[in-house]
Amino acid sequence: MHKDIERIILTEAQIADKVTSLAKEIEKDYRHTVPVLLCILNGAFIFASDLMRALGIDVEIDFMQAASYGDKTFSKGSITILKDATIDLKGRDVLIVEDIADTCITLKGLVPKLEDYGLNSLKLCVLLNKTGVREEKDDVKIDYKGFDIPNEFVVGYGLDYDNLYRNLPYIGILKRRVYTNE
Ligand code: IMP
Ligand code: MG
Repeated sequence: MHKDIERIILTEAQIADKVTSLAKEIEKDYRHTVPVLLCILNGAFIFASDLMRALGIDVEIDFMQAASYGDKTFSKGSITILKDATIDLKGRDVLIVEDIADTCITLKGLVPKLEDYGLNSLKLCVLLNKTGVREEKDDVKIDYKGFDIPNEFVVGYGLDYDNLYRNLPYIGILKRRVYTNE
């Protein structure tokens, strides 16, 4: 285990099993179409690549990157698009692939922008859902959910702190001293 990790909450095997079962569900629902997986950079790139390889249907992938700004305590959904999709999404079945649903400010800002593209359908796949963070009014509908996790800062499997730890194959809670400099 990495020296900065307090404890592992999801092992490599647990994640792999979940990716397989999510892929089974997605495959079934999208068997009559060729969906576009829309991977939200940077955090979701590892999850999206594993998920894509677990899918036994034809599928395309594209990438978007967004930054949320303003006061995090207001979920106004104000975001800036840093990188837009390059595939023409009009009329497509789009599945957003996101690493984690925390405040959901990013996702809530992204959805109306995507709807403007005139998609055929839009669904959301999230590996981790932080519980006890959002009020009911701020919730988003997660169509495919990996795991509910407690409201703690996690890293690994694409998730970072200060751009580090994305390469850990498991998901773990970061030691407090790493981000408090104690
Ligand atoms: P939001 O608060 O739901 O808008 O989350 C925005 C982004 O913050 C996520 O896509 C993650 O990249 C990042 N994030 C949120 N919680 C964590 C965490 O516990 N560890 C690492 N990154 C996180
Ligand atoms: Mg992210």
